[in-house]
Amino acid sequence: MIDQAIFQQPALVSMKDLDVTTVKALIQRAEAFKQVLHLELTTPLYAANLFFENSTRTHTSFEVAERRLGLSVVQFDPQTSSVKKGESLYDTCLTLAAVGVNLLVIRHWQDAYYKMLINQPSLPVALINAGDGSGEHPSQSLLDMMTISENFADFNGLKVAIVGDLNHSRVARSNMEILHKLGAQIFFSGPAYWYGPEFAPYGTYLPIDELADQVDVMMMLRVQHERHQSDAGFDAAAYHQQYGLTVERAARMHQDAIIMHPGPINRDVELASELVESKRSRFVTQMQNGVFMRMAMIESVLRAQDLGCLV
Ligand code: CP
Repeated sequence: MIDQAIFQQPALVSMKDLDVTTVKALIQRAEAFKQVLHLELTTPLYAANLFFENSTRTHTSFEVAERRLGLSVVQFDPQTSSVKKGESLYDTCLTLAAVGVNLLVIRHWQDAYYKMLINQPSLPVALINAGDGSGEHPSQSLLDMMTISENFADFNGLKVAIVGDLNHSRVARSNMEILHKLGAQIFFSGPAYWYGPEFAPYGTYLPIDELADQVDVMMMLRVQHERHQSDAGFDAAAYHQQYGLTVERAARMHQDAIIMHPGPINRDVELASELVESKRSRFVTQMQNGVFMRMAMIESVLRAQDLGCLV
């Protein structure tokens, strides 16, 4: 039983804010939820999930996590809300806080949108960032760390490759931040036009053929067509052969090495379709773990917001 927040802030928005101790404590709490832990609310609490970008797994797993903790989920759809009349994100949140919503989970296309919402006296709510543009994706990063920790005893010295559309990936940014703090050895791979100087302080850039037999974790990223100016001339088969995890490359991975992907997957582009549910793949486990890690995150921000009515 804990009665204090693991992370002492009511807003969990960036992996830059989390230290190693906090991440390990969140993983431990998520594992407890996965095994046995069940909490009850002693007073009604309300959550609203505001998704201004498409989502399947993040949106549904936050809703399942909220319901498993006993929160009531207030339905919100930007397409049918007053956002369509021009209401700003801040005013939307002000409204939801005013009607009694206690927890806001937000995915938004604007990088660092959360800066306009945190530390606002008129927004006495807990807040979790479910993805900001090409900025960060802390809940994906934490469920990824949970999944890695289920397979390897220590992060220190673990060799992790982050491969693909790095430039547009909030998963890459959150994961390189925390993996670096955890002591992992990070490698980057993929097209040079999606690699940039911001990644260099965190790891080494190499062709995937040089990484396949070296790494413990091969973390493949989705090619994010929706964020590209133009994909004229993009050849999926050529991308797969040059930059993707093919069946042949996966066969060169060492016996205990694992494959990860945050989803959704472009099958046979960044990852061979046969590998998605293969023995090495943790794709399904990542999605399962997402519910339990999000429960741990929600519990922490509610306690930090002095809504510690979970027993
Ligand atoms: N990994 C992830 O964020 O997936 P969704 O876009 O489906 O939520």
